[in-house]
Amino acid sequence: MSLQTNHRPVLVVDFGAQYAQLIARRVREAGIYSEVIPHTATAADVRAKNASALILSGGPSSVYAEGAPSLDAEILELGLPVFGICYGFQAMTHALGGTVANTGSREYGRTDINVAGGVLHEGLETCHKVWMSHGDAVSEAPAGFEVTASSQGAPVAAFENKDRKMAGVQYHPEVLHSPHGQQVLTRFLTEIAGLKQDWTAANIAEELIEKVREQIGETGRAICGLSGGVDSAVAGALVQRAIGDRLTCVFVDHGLLRAGEREQVEKDFVAATGAKLVTVDERQAFLTKLAGVTDPEAKRKAIGAEFIRSFERAVTGVLEDAPEGSTVDFLVQGTLYPDVVESGGGSGTANIKSHHNVGGLPDDVEFKLVEPLRDLFKDEVRAVGRELGLPEEIVGRQPFPGPGLGIRIIGEVTEERLEILRHADLIARTELTAAGLDGIIWQCPVVLLADVRSVGVQGDGRTYGHPIVLRPVSSEDAMTADWTRLPYEVLEKISTRITNEVPNVNRVVLDVTSKPPGTIEWE
Ligand code: XMP
Repeated sequence: MSLQTNHRPVLVVDFGAQYAQLIARRVREAGIYSEVIPHTATAADVRAKNASALILSGGPSSVYAEGAPSLDAEILELGLPVFGICYGFQAMTHALGGTVANTGSREYGRTDINVAGGVLHEGLETCHKVWMSHGDAVSEAPAGFEVTASSQGAPVAAFENKDRKMAGVQYHPEVLHSPHGQQVLTRFLTEIAGLKQDWTAANIAEELIEKVREQIGETGRAICGLSGGVDSAVAGALVQRAIGDRLTCVFVDHGLLRAGEREQVEKDFVAATGAKLVTVDERQAFLTKLAGVTDPEAKRKAIGAEFIRSFERAVTGVLEDAPEGSTVDFLVQGTLYPDVVESGGGSGTANIKSHHNVGGLPDDVEFKLVEPLRDLFKDEVRAVGRELGLPEEIVGRQPFPGPGLGIRIIGEVTEERLEILRHADLIARTELTAAGLDGIIWQCPVVLLADVRSVGVQGDGRTYGHPIVLRPVSSEDAMTADWTRLPYEVLEKISTRITNEVPNVNRVVLDVTSKPPGTIEWE
């Protein structure tokens, strides 16, 4: 189920930049609902979405390049407020009769701009840093537009026309390298477009509860697969608010869990929500399905399918105390917007990985899916969770993927390997928490390279064991990430403890790859 909020969206027109999702996030951070649409959208599509404003995103190409993405010019005549960013700024210039100079010279990275006035940059220092990344530059603003900033490589670095509610900047206000970018974006939304900042956690929660009620109806029953993670917990809590005890939460113990995971769900989640919870032991079923499987996508698909089969098996127990003839028609999942995008479900994005609950589902699912968080980013989900009264131990948790340790064993998943990885993971988590580092890490997958062995020496003997990889990352929403610079002393402690305490592991290595090019999980 898509959110289909009553809030009119600010539509971010995606010209193929990796920044479009980020812009939507920033707009939402400003308290205004936003969605991304592909640049192929027509004026009719925009009208159908009942948009409140448009933002034209950056893009990889020059407006003069062959096949450069263009904009349905009619879109600019809908009378909507419009903000152009980078390529979008140039596309807007082009469409409104200004001039884009095909300079060929590039301006890339942190750059000074000089502000000459206007509403967008009001209150900021005349000369300040922004993040630029462009070849061509606007040399002449469209008629009626005031040029409000310039840089060395961009004589027209910003323009605006308050009466037409239109503005644009050559730089990227959405990235953190433009320190005042969020302020500029917010000024466009509030001062030029005149929008209200009413996209708040309380409003979101209330709307979602209402939508879930509509979808499930007065008598429908649902089960919610809890994974121990934040997303499924918040989805479960929302649906519980909507339909009360017609919801049963099902915790599938698939054996790919970390130490203590099951106990935490049984204790914290139930205490916070009062939801009905059943736990089913499906360890053997998952291990059997994973026997001999080494390809990451095959693993993800096998796990996704077995989840559904486990829910189907759980239904009999769920219905035991329900009135005769009751059925369970709905399955609640904590799918998020980034999961959808990375499973290839976003606008024109490649399938990077089949997330277990999106691309990993089998074709013959008989449940109707209820996915109240499908349009939200992680930080919004956390805010909604807090709004619903979930404790910090749940909403503040680091993300953990549904397929669990199954996608952190590189090679076939076996009980013995799971035991090794669980042990190493517990040590890493314990030491990171003890060092007070949880706040700076987005998550720290611990990975077992089960198909790799290396020679070591322990005690007086030769060993031939497996490496464990530590993958600490910092991120805002898992769409991009950087490796976290952990203190050497903490790394040393983790490494020493793992090699001393975990049998068959004789080496610990640190993953120092950002995303992109590496993803966060190894599989
Ligand atoms: P990647 O590895 O794609 O991960 O950079 C991005 C974020 O998503 C989590 N992840 C998943 N979560 N089901 C989930 O619920 C999945 O199949 C799945 N795969 C990856 C990952 O832990 C990270 O936070």
